[in-house]
Amino acid sequence: MKATLDHIGIAVRDLDAALAFYRDALGLDVGEAEDVPSERVRAQFLPLGETALELLEATDEGSAIARSIERRGPGIHHITLRVADLAAALARLRERGVRLVDERPRPGAGGSRVAFIHPSAAQGVLIELKEDPGR
Ligand code: CO
Repeated sequence: MKATLDHIGIAVRDLDAALAFYRDALGLDVGEAEDVPSERVRAQFLPLGETALELLEATDEGSAIARSIERRGPGIHHITLRVADLAAALARLRERGVRLVDERPRPGAGGSRVAFIHPSAAQGVLIELKEDPGR
């Protein structure tokens, strides 16, 4: 399966404080910001060539990002691999008995379709697979 590193998601407590480091101190360019009500997060992308960092701030204490920060503190939350055929990737994983968070693709940002693999299957890393018709 061919895949490209789409982005690395970083859970942050405070987006402004995170930008004071990533944008102002480190000097990275700032890309799109996006409210994702379904995930109860605000996302700020920082493009890095073919890939990007995604800073994620919870907008509600029930969000997965809030719970992750509660358990582990801020830090790397997930990595996202872009694939050409998400359904085929999921079928392949299911066939091998890999534990999935999402059995089926669901809508992601910007018209993409996404599915998460359970971290227990991936050496503790939460992996998001993404199929983006625009790329
Ligand atoms: Co992400």
